[in-house]
Amino acid sequence: MSNPATEQILILDFGSQYTQLIARRIREANVYSEIVDSMISPAEVRARGVSGLILSGGPASVHQAGAPGCDPALFDLGVPVLGICYGLQWFSHHFGGTVKRSGAREYGPALLTQRGDNPLFQDVPPISKVWMSHADEVVRGAPGFEIIASSESVPYAAVWHPARRVWGVQFHPEVVHTDHGKQILFNFARRICGCSGAWTASHYIEQATQDIRRQVGSGAVILGLSGGVDSSVAAALLHRAIGDQLHCVFVDNGVMRLGEADALRTTFAQHLHMNIRMVDAATGFLERLAGVTDPERKRKIIGGYFVEVFREAARTVPDARFLAQGTTYPDVIESSGIGKHADNIKSHHNVGGLPAQLGFDQLVEPLRLLFKDEVRAIGEELGLPHEMVWRQPFPGPGLAVRILGEVTPDRVTLLQKADHIVIEEMTKSGWYYKVWQSFAVLLPVKTVGVMGDCRTYENAMALRVVQSSDGMTADWVDLPHELLGRISSRIINEVRGINRVVYDITSKPPGTIEWE
Ligand code: XMP
Repeated sequence: MSNPATEQILILDFGSQYTQLIARRIREANVYSEIVDSMISPAEVRARGVSGLILSGGPASVHQAGAPGCDPALFDLGVPVLGICYGLQWFSHHFGGTVKRSGAREYGPALLTQRGDNPLFQDVPPISKVWMSHADEVVRGAPGFEIIASSESVPYAAVWHPARRVWGVQFHPEVVHTDHGKQILFNFARRICGCSGAWTASHYIEQATQDIRRQVGSGAVILGLSGGVDSSVAAALLHRAIGDQLHCVFVDNGVMRLGEADALRTTFAQHLHMNIRMVDAATGFLERLAGVTDPERKRKIIGGYFVEVFREAARTVPDARFLAQGTTYPDVIESSGIGKHADNIKSHHNVGGLPAQLGFDQLVEPLRLLFKDEVRAIGEELGLPHEMVWRQPFPGPGLAVRILGEVTPDRVTLLQKADHIVIEEMTKSGWYYKVWQSFAVLLPVKTVGVMGDCRTYENAMALRVVQSSDGMTADWVDLPHELLGRISSRIINEVRGINRVVYDITSKPPGTIEWE
């Protein structure tokens, strides 16, 4: 897929945990931005017609052997540059300033006071709150650089070099704790780099439509529809581009949410008139899961059998050479090796190597440049139902990783009913769309209870509700007690077989979001 934007700002990655956030903020200013290796060549930057460069933060010290850097000739291209934290330190050091090495970290809020009127701070109050997260610090600016803002403890909190058109900030404008950070990055992208702001959902859809048509010609494309946001939006986008050349395959693995297959059929087949093949493989999956309690084996069984079933369904589509996937930009960043300067490498759950296992040689990935919020904006623009575009993430192995111990048809039914009540109550109370995930977990534990004068001895269930921005870390949510009470009493009253509900108050780390 070619880059659908004419104007772009590149972010040179020095490994900051916030690098992706910088790209998101620039895109929120309606300017396309992409994260690239910090050693990108000036020739490539020129060839791409880049409007601006941002040097990210990072965990290294410029004094450290092998500290990451970039090609200094990038500063001679006449393209505005903004260095953030390590980015500022790197160019200050390179151009002859002094960076003081420090063992201690300054982490937290600071008050930034501007000096003069710099275009970087247009529409930002003269004194504003910013977020600091650094150890080293510039203590003497490089020749030609002037201070444009300071904090109480950091004189060189923001600098510029008017002739070179280079700016640097010690704080992090990309994080929400910097009160006017979005405005600062907007100023850089739109006012300093002069970008017009043409990166919008409708523009993207137009460009992606042309690209998809060019790539697949008259060929047939197969897409595995899971019901998740990414595959649903990819399906809608592809369908807009190539209509009946798109064949969606939905595999019911028997561990989906209640009514999932019907909901997908209604949306995609009835409303959007897409080709969709519904494969009911529930029995096969559940047979293979019988007697299995080990979480990793469950995952492997489900992943492995999915490939078999999908491959079989794909065979029935003549001349299908293309496999479409809802890969998004964070997946691309993680698998590309960008971020190699980062301190901790994250693991993710997307099935690797699937296209090759399925025997396709050509991939169509119309969302590979997009962040989740952009995928959602495109889904809405394409007319997908709100509840589909905004639904919470759901793991590939489905309810199997939320049924601790053996997965049996009865236990699946029990959890589906409880899960349905959780979704209903969270939605009714307005909490469903405020949290990252909210779900029920069926425990391999029976407890004693009393109902209507009778003793019960039935299953216990855990309720898990977490807040997160990317699933890598998470906090448990302090839901109103009244809502917790309602969910609990509805489940105990309406789901025969569950007589106790407990609330999970574990964050990630040390817990994971799913229980298995
Ligand atoms: P954990 O449990 O690792 O989950 O904290 C982090 C996020 O990933 C989701 N998850 C999965 N998603 N396939 C997926 O597509 C999987 O196998 C899988 N396992 C966990 C989980 O729901 C959470 O949002």
